[in-house]
Amino acid sequence: MRGKRVARQQWSSSLMFVLAATGSAVGLGNIWKFPYLAGKHGGGIFVLVYLLCLLLLCIPIMVAEILVGRIGRRNPVASLEILSQLSGCRKSWRWLGTLGMVAGFLILSYYSVIAGWTLSYIFKTATGEFRGHDAEGVENFFIEFIASPRQQIVWHTLFMTATLVIVAHGIQGGLEKAVELLTPALFLILTILMGYALGTGEFMHGALFLLFPDISNLTAETVLAALGHAFFSLSIAMGVMIAYGSYLPNGISIIKASLIVAAADTVVAIMAGLAIFPLVFANHVPLTFGPGLIFKTLPMIFAQMPGGTLFGGLFFVLLAIAALSSSISLIEPTVAWLVEDKALSRGMACWLSGMTCWFLGLGTVFSFNIWRDLTVFDKTFFQGLDFLTSNLLLPLNGLMMAIFVGWFLRHKLTRSELDAGPVLFACWWLLIRFVAPGAVMLIFMQAIGIL
Ligand code: PFF
Repeated sequence: MRGKRVARQQWSSSLMFVLAATGSAVGLGNIWKFPYLAGKHGGGIFVLVYLLCLLLLCIPIMVAEILVGRIGRRNPVASLEILSQLSGCRKSWRWLGTLGMVAGFLILSYYSVIAGWTLSYIFKTATGEFRGHDAEGVENFFIEFIASPRQQIVWHTLFMTATLVIVAHGIQGGLEKAVELLTPALFLILTILMGYALGTGEFMHGALFLLFPDISNLTAETVLAALGHAFFSLSIAMGVMIAYGSYLPNGISIIKASLIVAAADTVVAIMAGLAIFPLVFANHVPLTFGPGLIFKTLPMIFAQMPGGTLFGGLFFVLLAIAALSSSISLIEPTVAWLVEDKALSRGMACWLSGMTCWFLGLGTVFSFNIWRDLTVFDKTFFQGLDFLTSNLLLPLNGLMMAIFVGWFLRHKLTRSELDAGPVLFACWWLLIRFVAPGAVMLIFMQAIGIL
């Protein structure tokens, strides 16, 4: 094993682990992506399939990743190497850790840019910049904003710096302090926004759309979209849960913790939907509005409603908070690897990986303006990166992880680490061995166009 043995920190309690993993899972995916995907894919039916995917596929993989982390007690690359040796199989499984780490690193480069947009929108909304503008006016703001590399670079830099400052302070000093504050704040602000949505007169309309499945809307495309999103939303297949699991003290039930995180992740997504859809219906915004839903439409709605500068400001604060507790998790595997295997100090590892990630993020910034017409296979830099990570690297990594834990990891190790009763263990075992690989293979084949 290369690298040095450094004294390892741990989460101070199971609550801390649950908060941190929830903070990682809840992010732009829940609040920005989930509502527009649900709008596009028929509301209730999308939500139903998404829930099934979480339960049958994502939670078992999440359990597997935390398990790998807790047994290995190292960064994702080293943990996989240790576990493959303990199971008498090839050391090359360590590449699975590298693959996840690279995916997380690439995702962070664009995640930070989009999160930078949310930072900027806190100020734009709270200072009433959108006041008196109609839909077109607000849309023009957005178009002008993303056309400016300078503005985006400033916000991207600020967001990345905030991420690095937190991660540089380590587990108990940085990550724990951050999630302890951020996660409850997020629930509080969402509840306030839902309260506002309740008063729009369209709450039932929004709730029915989101929670009542209309089976006639079920298509293969909906299933695949829900499956892919469940993956992204739970932060699996990126080494994040391995890294977080490696700091988890023994004696805490991994299955219980995973179920709580998945439930919290789902509740936030549903709360975000319940806050957003009544506003969308009340303002006759098309359901198929797509990824621009929040940045183009909500400021318009906030500009018109009483107290909109406050609620709008709060909403974007919420989004930035959610993004921050996800971004710190995205960089943690790389930082842990640089510290443990490459003998760098934690501060040095943070700044080195953060600067590289920031630099890569410039490609995403430029893809909305000066590189807009620079495409490869019809995709801009940002679209290419998103496709490479979400559609190729994540499914591939999730598939391999299910195969490794389900088929290669020594059964004795798994059985002793998962303190579950025989029935629960058997359910998980079936899911990770057969159901998860099968379903993930389906996403992957769709992503690379075989299906
Ligand atoms: N789950 C986060 C979200 O829904 O926004 C995004 C994310 C964070 C994905 C961390 C992956 C990850 F490792």
